[in-house]
Amino acid sequence: MARIEGAKSVYEWLDQRIAITTLNKVMQTEYWIPKNINFLWAMGMVLAATFGILTISGIFLLMYYNPSVDLAFDSVNYLIMTEVGYGWLWRHVHGIGASLVFLIIYIHMFVGIYYGSYKKGRELIWISGMLLFVLFSAEAFSGYMLPWGQMSYWAGMVITNLFAGGSLEATGFVEWIRGDYVPAQAYLTRFFMLHVFLLPLLIIGAIVFHFGTLRIPHVNNQDGEDFDYDEAAELYKAGKVKESKVIPFSPVFLSKDVFVMGVYFVLFFYLVFYHFNFAMDPVNFDPANGLSTPAHIYPEWYFLWSYEILRPFPTDLGLIAFAISQVIFMMLPFLDRSPNVAPANKRGLFHFWFWAMLINVIVLTFMGKLPPEGIWNVIGFWAAIMFFVLWIILPIITKLEKKI
Ligand code: HEM
Repeated sequence: MARIEGAKSVYEWLDQRIAITTLNKVMQTEYWIPKNINFLWAMGMVLAATFGILTISGIFLLMYYNPSVDLAFDSVNYLIMTEVGYGWLWRHVHGIGASLVFLIIYIHMFVGIYYGSYKKGRELIWISGMLLFVLFSAEAFSGYMLPWGQMSYWAGMVITNLFAGGSLEATGFVEWIRGDYVPAQAYLTRFFMLHVFLLPLLIIGAIVFHFGTLRIPHVNNQDGEDFDYDEAAELYKAGKVKESKVIPFSPVFLSKDVFVMGVYFVLFFYLVFYHFNFAMDPVNFDPANGLSTPAHIYPEWYFLWSYEILRPFPTDLGLIAFAISQVIFMMLPFLDRSPNVAPANKRGLFHFWFWAMLINVIVLTFMGKLPPEGIWNVIGFWAAIMFFVLWIILPIITKLEKKI
């Protein structure tokens, strides 16, 4: 009894100072979520949970990792993997988390595209989401440098070479980025700083902003239906739960999120314990050697589609194509000219566009992994052309779309 009284007075003390009752209402019990949504709307919280797991496992790895070109490889592959108690577990969790976070990001993005969740009123949700995508890409790339294996070194070399700007030959700029003529100690130290400090800080800020952008327009729903939230909320509060179109985020919707997260983590830990090599390139188990170039240099699977947009073209054109591919998804709210907020299957030609884009990105991903020879080169080239054709026709087909 005394304990309950104690907890009550702590609550009141805090409430008088930081209004936790109001905060709890705004962010949880009166944060209204439409009923008409499916499990795909849990992907955002799955992403937040995966980011949490990446942070925790990263902190444990950081206790033993050594950011020196002479010791980095052994600190990961020998010290953490064999000497540190459960070091292998934290490394597998971190590696699988880094790979799965992209799988879920892509699902989350394409769900948003399918249901038109980037349309008028929700543009900032989309743009902040794409900002997160760019930040996660930088975070994954900088993390890939840290084990200082052959792929770390050579992927680092190839990607930083992009900043030479093709025939512009901005060689001074590349060296400024690397801090040296080739990736070496200065390079490893700055990517270490980016990976463990600056980028995570920016990601946390971007996640808070992304959540903030959801609050006023609310999440979309399966039919793109626009309704009066205040009226729906009043019905819910009056006990007319069946008639109301909304449920509170916490505890009602959150319980569904937690269920989906449970299923996801079964898959997650299945991969951690039985298929951890899925997230590790065998070539990266050889220490970095600037005198021996691997036969094929390719990035991790989640970057393959954009790598394949770079590869089939001559240097300058490839660079321009690559640069466009990195920002074009951010422009989606402005390139889709139709006012219809509806699932793609109700939007005529846009339905075709959606599946063509998804299949195209998957084809580009496969082609990016295969050596650029013979038929693979031809398919890769045409898939890259198709990527741009689809973006060019988007404003036209959506302008012609009938109003639903
Ligand atoms: C990795 C970091 C991310 C986190 C933690 C995150 C989190 C969330 C959460 C919790 C929601 C609300 C529930 C839901 O619809 O799933 C949401 C919605 C949304 N997110 Fe993200 N997100 C992330 C990345 C992205 C990316 C890369 C995009 C792509 C541009 C994106 C676009 C959207 C959109 C359009 C919505 C609104 C969905 C709707 O209204 O139906 N997010 N996000």
